Amino acid sequence: MIMEEQKKKKVLCVGLVCLDIINVVDKYPEEDTDSRCLSQRWQRGGNASNSCTVLSLLGAPCAFMGSLAAGPVADFILEDFQKFHIDVSLASEHAQCVLPASMVISNISTGSRTILHMNRNLPDVTAEDFSKVDLHQFKWIHWEGRNAVEQVKMIQQVVTYNGTLPQEQRITVSVEIEKIREPLYQLFPHGDVVFVSKDVARHFGFLSAEAALRGFYSRVKQGAVLICAWAEKGADALGPDGVLVHSDAFPPENLVDTLGAGDTFNSAVIFTLSNGGSLQDALTFGCRVAGAKCGFHGYDGIAEKFTNDCPKS
Ligand code: ADP
Ligand code: FRU
Repeated sequence: MIMEEQKKKKVLCVGLVCLDIINVVDKYPEEDTDSRCLSQRWQRGGNASNSCTVLSLLGAPCAFMGSLAAGPVADFILEDFQKFHIDVSLASEHAQCVLPASMVISNISTGSRTILHMNRNLPDVTAEDFSKVDLHQFKWIHWEGRNAVEQVKMIQQVVTYNGTLPQEQRITVSVEIEKIREPLYQLFPHGDVVFVSKDVARHFGFLSAEAALRGFYSRVKQGAVLICAWAEKGADALGPDGVLVHSDAFPPENLVDTLGAGDTFNSAVIFTLSNGGSLQDALTFGCRVAGAKCGFHGYDGIAEKFTNDCPKS
């Protein structure tokens, strides 16, 4: 049983916020052609930022920690954070920098999302920034793998903090290793829960989530849970007991938008585990919410389908 006090605490996501300029098409364009989109929109993006959106829509109090620039794009982003009731008091503004942006081609005929991302000069948050955070307000902190050397130092601060507390008041640490970048792999032994992507798994030659989990498990710390989502194949998880847990995917009637499916999956898993649900409950809920998300544009549809719908402990 998780104490009521602990349950009410926030989930903090540390990582990227950026602008997604989404071009919706019904046919992927040929190179060097001039075609029209079905629609075009701005959306707040970035893995940690998207994960906050989903956590908030599911009904979890949450906070975002990351860097912002100043100016009209940052204003759009801040307003959107506010709309979703996400605490941004830990976001730091860099007035001289440009906010990162992604051009996204979102194909409604296949649901595919093609992303071109650019970060000109916005720095990531540092361990020094993190040392100023009052950790008492959080029950779970999730790191989107980015500046891993600094992130390991941040996690060590949480480990030290946890050492002063009884088990039931400790902060759970999760990390996401999504991009194929050597420095990110040092994060494996630092999460209580570790999300590794199928891109990273494939890069290492693993052809399924199960193979990836068995192959990577020796890299995580004792007692940790390793999770690997695999698009339409659903997701698998492996914990210290060595038993493989699986959920099938829940494909929507029409697959229209897979942008942020992974971020959605991670949030629904964190939401379930942080409310005392089992690993199987978490994977199944993760796949249900992420699958449903692929059936509509953006994230708003999650609220009506899933709020207060999490398996309870
Ligand atoms: P990303 O590429 O955004 O990181 P993944 O491909 O790992 O995301 O998928 C995350 C989760 O989203 C999967 O476990 C699955 O539940 C859901 N999902 C993604 N793509 C599909 C799809 N085509 N059909 C059904 N569910 C999907
Ligand atoms: C989706 C996403 C987008 C962003 C891109 C950055 O997972 O966070 O919102 O543009 O990935 O890599």
